[in-house]
Amino acid sequence: MNNFTAIILAAGAGTRMKSNIPKALQKVCGRSMIDHVIDTAKNVGCREIIVVTGCGKEQVEDQLSKRNQLDNDIDIKFAFQANRLGTGDAVKMAEPFIDDDKKVLVLCADTPLLKSESLRRLMDTLSDDVSGAVLTAIMDDATGYGRILRERKLDAIEGDVVGIVEHKDATDDELLIKEINTGVYAFRGAELKQSLSLLKNNNVQGEYYLTDVISILKKSEKRIGAVIETEPISTLGVNSPHQLHQANRYMQSQIIKSHMDNGVRFINADTVVIEKNVIIGADTDIYPNVILTGNTQIGQRCIIGMSSRIEDSIIDDNVNVQSSVILQSEVSSSTNVGPFAYIRPNSKIGKNVKVGDFVEIKNSTLGDDTKVSHLSYIGDGDVGSRVNVGCGVVFVNYDGVNKHRTVVEDDVFIGCNANLVSPVNIYEGSYIAAGTTVTRDIPKDSLSVGRVRQENKEGRASMLRMMKKNKKGKSDGK
Ligand code: UD1
Ligand code: CA
Repeated sequence: MNNFTAIILAAGAGTRMKSNIPKALQKVCGRSMIDHVIDTAKNVGCREIIVVTGCGKEQVEDQLSKRNQLDNDIDIKFAFQANRLGTGDAVKMAEPFIDDDKKVLVLCADTPLLKSESLRRLMDTLSDDVSGAVLTAIMDDATGYGRILRERKLDAIEGDVVGIVEHKDATDDELLIKEINTGVYAFRGAELKQSLSLLKNNNVQGEYYLTDVISILKKSEKRIGAVIETEPISTLGVNSPHQLHQANRYMQSQIIKSHMDNGVRFINADTVVIEKNVIIGADTDIYPNVILTGNTQIGQRCIIGMSSRIEDSIIDDNVNVQSSVILQSEVSSSTNVGPFAYIRPNSKIGKNVKVGDFVEIKNSTLGDDTKVSHLSYIGDGDVGSRVNVGCGVVFVNYDGVNKHRTVVEDDVFIGCNANLVSPVNIYEGSYIAAGTTVTRDIPKDSLSVGRVRQENKEGRASMLRMMKKNKKGKSDGK
């Protein structure tokens, strides 16, 4: 199937988005629209992708060049349309890349919901007799769209396609046609190039319409294929923030549906945000307001509690996350996180670990069966297994200029409110008394106490209170 080239039109200004971000780069479910379109083209076997840029050229090319380097299955090239003279002119800019014997799929950058299956059906209609094909849809309100002209009477959809008329150029009768041009086409390379050279701009908008290629091909005695899209929403073109929202909702509902099909349960799916690349195992429960983004993977039988946000992280089976944030980190099986924990990038949490409330972990590893139950900061630490980190412990990792690491070996007990001033090593099995500020390494199996010695003065509490009362009485009497 890789004799197909895809041309993606992305030169338009996208004025109605009222945004400084080029329209093609606006995101739907966390991925830019043009990336979705490229994904779909790639899905149907297009290797070579020609993107026609114009407005926002640098930003679009910049982003896609990065993708091109990472993705070996596709080869993205750019054509530049200097003046927006119409969709036909835009495709003409890609002409140098079109091989006569290749087939060409023409897509727009602003249709993120296209279905691979429909593109495949469209491509399959091309043959020696059929040199061009168009994806159509039946719309109750066809306002603004190009209308499909068929051989027989105007409103019938069973005759051969003979042309497309733009809304602005249509007669009153043609405006009644409900079958519209979705803007998705497949062509045979040689015939497309011949027709492009014959395009004229003698229409209401003074543009070179790609749609005219259809009637040109038809006149050359070739047949035009047509595939009717049965799910018209999938051809939605995004021109405004409202349409962006519609595209988001639709894609989101599809993503959630596919997770449900895999055995994932949702308490209130309408409130959840899950990006396209996220993977979730069966029997996992997702609570309201959860946000799962990037390349996040979640195992089986997990509970992702309300308002948790997990980004680019790997969560193993049987993990329970409650109202917490986990970024670019890994959490192993049977671990509990939260409520209100914050696991920052590059952290690796072992199995059966407890990361409790108001605990922050950054760039650190925690071994299996370790407990950090409440109110602690572990930054730049390598913490072993079966370690107990008491309440309010701080890894003092920053001296105002540099960050240093703290190493805590297996079976260490860290009492409440201890400060570990890094760089420092706490060796196996040692015991740090509550309130200790550790500034030197602690050898294996040592008890470390570092705090002011406590003094108890018996009988002095009541004396102290009396002195304070007297003092207060004098100052009140003044
Ligand atoms: C186009 C079709 C119309 C169809 C509709 C479907 C034509 C003449 N009309 O109309 O039949 O129903 O799409 O959504 O093709 N672009 C360029 N360079 C240009 C002009 C446009 O790259 O000079 C790009 C735009 O960035 C956009 C795409 O082509 O991605 C479509 O252009 P747009 O102006 O939105 O076409 P429509 O008027 O919607
Ligand atoms: Ca459009």
